[in-house]
Amino acid sequence: MYRFGFGLMWVVGTFGCGGSDGASDAAPSDAPSDSSSDAHEDAGVADGGSPLGPYPPVTDLPARDALPDLFMSFDGTRRASDVSEWEAWRQDELRDLFAFYQYGYAPSDEVPVTVEVVVSEPDFIPDQVRYDELAVRLGDLGLVVHVALFTPHGVDSPPVFVAPNRCGNQEVTEDPRVRATTAWQGDNCGSTVEESRGVRAYQWPISSIAEAGFAFATFHESEIDPDDEEHDFANGVHAALVDSARDPRIRWGRVAAWAWGVSRVIDGLLEHGTVDATRIAAVGHSRRGKTVLLAAAHDPRIALVIAHQSGTGGVALHRSLEGETLELINALFPSWFNDVFPTFARRELQTPVDQHQLIALVAPRAVLATDGSDDRWADPDGARAAVLAASPAWELYGAPGVVLDDAGAPTLDGPLAWHLRPGDHDLTDDDWATFLEFARRRGW
Ligand code: GCU
Repeated sequence: MYRFGFGLMWVVGTFGCGGSDGASDAAPSDAPSDSSSDAHEDAGVADGGSPLGPYPPVTDLPARDALPDLFMSFDGTRRASDVSEWEAWRQDELRDLFAFYQYGYAPSDEVPVTVEVVVSEPDFIPDQVRYDELAVRLGDLGLVVHVALFTPHGVDSPPVFVAPNRCGNQEVTEDPRVRATTAWQGDNCGSTVEESRGVRAYQWPISSIAEAGFAFATFHESEIDPDDEEHDFANGVHAALVDSARDPRIRWGRVAAWAWGVSRVIDGLLEHGTVDATRIAAVGHSRRGKTVLLAAAHDPRIALVIAHQSGTGGVALHRSLEGETLELINALFPSWFNDVFPTFARRELQTPVDQHQLIALVAPRAVLATDGSDDRWADPDGARAAVLAASPAWELYGAPGVVLDDAGAPTLDGPLAWHLRPGDHDLTDDDWATFLEFARRRGW
């Protein structure tokens, strides 16, 4: 991946991150020392192609304990005080800040999709589920995403859960009628593609989803972009769709590419026309939880999003300083974000946007964040805090946001919710029961 270097310098800036709810700047002496041998160099992208910038380099951003304000502009000069202002400029500013400092910009090219049904099994599960495989061709990029679509019998225009998967569509069932991926497979899938058949079937309870009246659509993330550090961006959509006008440091990372892929799959589903366009839910576990949250922040067609154990770069706050740190996530997965984001290693308090603001971008649509009590790496407390801090965005729309129970714990009753179940990092039947219950309470 392209790396860069600028002079190292610690400056507490007088600009940026305005309106942080009365927080005071941390003294320079509180800040991480730039002399630490592994401090990242300053991503001083002065005017690197942001439509709304230029923004200051990371090292010039002030450290603040308090969360960045949902509604105050980056320069601290104006506040979005109602929905029309929020939608007229603040949403765009937040999306732009997330792209510039964290996820990178997706190319703005229009990529129209075409859909071909390549497998049809009307009685995939007798008297219950129909199966279709949709080949969704992405413009003239030479890329095809194979969407495994399971629809319940007897339901016209069902709501749908759209989910990226790790190993390929064959991971969701032992049934060979669901064709195996031909794209790159990462670890934890099996040593051969066929060995990975059904390997995660327990995570995708197709029959229970159908019984609840929902369709389920899944696709292999590698068909958008293989999660392969070795080949970096030499394959997938990164190679096929390059924004050469944009500074390479702020081009899209892998999470942004996957999120873009979720939207292209939705294009394909709508083109196919079986599911209800007004009840599209996106669901993702872990890195795919980060992905669907980002997708929902950009794509208003996603009416409900479930970010399950999405952790750092997902629902969890940078400022919670628990679980996976920004330093670790960027060291372990250097392609997930843009090339500015690693500069925030040990500088969490300097992040000009935090994850409650990404959640807020989905308002007033439905958001559920779920966690496991033993999954400390994903930082359940930081996720809960982010959800609570995002709630005023729903209130701006006159909606309740998070609804608390008598003990002050978030419930599934509001359009914004956080739920903790016992246990570790996995996607279980209990999680699906929660997802379905949340959708049911939204009237789906
Ligand atoms: C790693 C990574 C997490 C990620 C997870 C996953 O644990 O550090 O950020 O969420 O993988 O996707 O399974």
